[in-house]
Parts: sequence; structure tokens; C-alpha cells
Amino acid sequence: MQIFGVDIGGSGIKGAPVDLDRGDLAQERHKVLTPHPATPDGVAGCVAEVVRHFDWQGPVGVTFPGVVTDGTTRSAANVDDGWIGLDARALLTDRLGGLPVTVLNDADAAGVAEMAYGAGRGRGGTVIVLTLGTGIGSAVFTDGRLVPNTELGHLELRGHDAETKASVKAKEDGDLSWEHWAKRVQRYLAHVEMLFSPDLFILGGGVSRKADRFVPLLHGIRAEIVPARLQNNAGIVGAAMAARGE
Ligand code: BGC
Repeated sequence: MQIFGVDIGGSGIKGAPVDLDRGDLAQERHKVLTPHPATPDGVAGCVAEVVRHFDWQGPVGVTFPGVVTDGTTRSAANVDDGWIGLDARALLTDRLGGLPVTVLNDADAAGVAEMAYGAGRGRGGTVIVLTLGTGIGSAVFTDGRLVPNTELGHLELRGHDAETKASVKAKEDGDLSWEHWAKRVQRYLAHVEMLFSPDLFILGGGVSRKADRFVPLLHGIRAEIVPARLQNNAGIVGAAMAARGE
């Protein structure tokens, strides 16, 4: 079965039909650059462009980099404030000519995909998926069930919003070495571990492709730490799963 998934990210808006039997993209994904500022109107236009590229007719799942409750976007840490309190599902349904749309948090989408098809497959207990990118997203699972809309990237750490110090953007903006950045990620994981005592951390986002550069540098964490397996496509796959009604 195929459903369309779109991932709205800080730098790109990417989508493809997803083969849900395999948990993988059914065709090569199409990507357009995220407009700046990332206003609802501008982003919705890009989502429509991505979906039109495949001439898709059917349900569409869309991730959003903020809190989403019942189709309404509630926060906007790395996108335009116009998203706060917006009925994003209605906006996107309209822009997609009435196709049924499901909207969910980007890290939650990546998390459900990892749990179904990737590094979290078959894992019980408490699993925390963290996406390291422009921000830090989180998806918390207990015995495979998601607690939606956790915002662990915004935990306060040494007086700072954690994602401003330990995201990939913080690494790039500060031109930090892998060693320096890994120390910050380690401090962050230790804090999350103190609060939740997870059995497993799954680290996702584009940087999971370079896991060998920093995962071996993370010390003193009790939980197992593994890189995400679906890497950059987890959001798209998870969005499609959500649109199927999971
Ligand atoms: C947002 C989260 C999002 C994460 C990754 C954070 O700034 O608050 O909702 O999941 O970035 O995009």
C-alpha cells in the first residue's frame, strides 16, 4: 500500500509516495528549499509543489517542526510565528485541492518510523528518539506506544535552551569539532537520562549518517545509544504511516 509523506524541515521540504509494506520510499523523493521566512503560505505552496510533482491523488501525511494537536500547529521554534494556533490541516487540505491531510510533529513521525522499520523495531521499555538537526526533536515511546508532542529539545541545560547548544545547527554555527559537540550532546543525554531513565536512545536526523564520528565519543550514559536506520527518510515514512491512521 502506498501513501504520500512530506517532511517540512528547516532547509528543505521533501516528499515521496511511501511503500508501507516495506517502510521505504516507493519513488525517489522530490525536494524544494524551505522559504525564509517559513510562513504558512510559503511552506504550504512548497508542500503543494512536492505533491504535484508526483501527480498524487490520495491521503497525504505532513510533518511539522513544532507541536501539533488535532491538525493545529501550536509552536514555531524554527519557523515563522504565523504557524502558532493555525489550523494547518485546513490550510494544507485547501492547497492540495481537498486531498485528506494528516499533520504531526516531525520527530514523532521519525520516531514511529524508526520503531516500526528501523532501530527501534521490536523494542519494549522506554525508548527515546532524538532528532539532531536545525533543532532537537524528541519522540518518547513506552512499550512501543508514542507519547506525542514531547519537546525535550527545549529542556533547560546550564541556563540555555538545550537545542541552541547541542543541535547540529549549533555545531555548524559555532564551527565546533566533533569532540566539542559530542561533549554537549553527552551532557544533554545525561540530563534526559536523569529525567526518564530510558532503555534506548535512537539518534536521528541527517547527522546519523555520520554516527561513527560522534557516537563512540559519548560516555557515561547507561542507556544503549544507536543511530537511526532510516536516516533522512524517517520523517517521510512516519508521515505516511500517520496518514494511514497509525
Ligand atoms: C521543535 C520541535 C521539533 C524539533 C525538530 C524543535 O525546535 O520545538 O517540535 O520536533 O525542533 O524539528
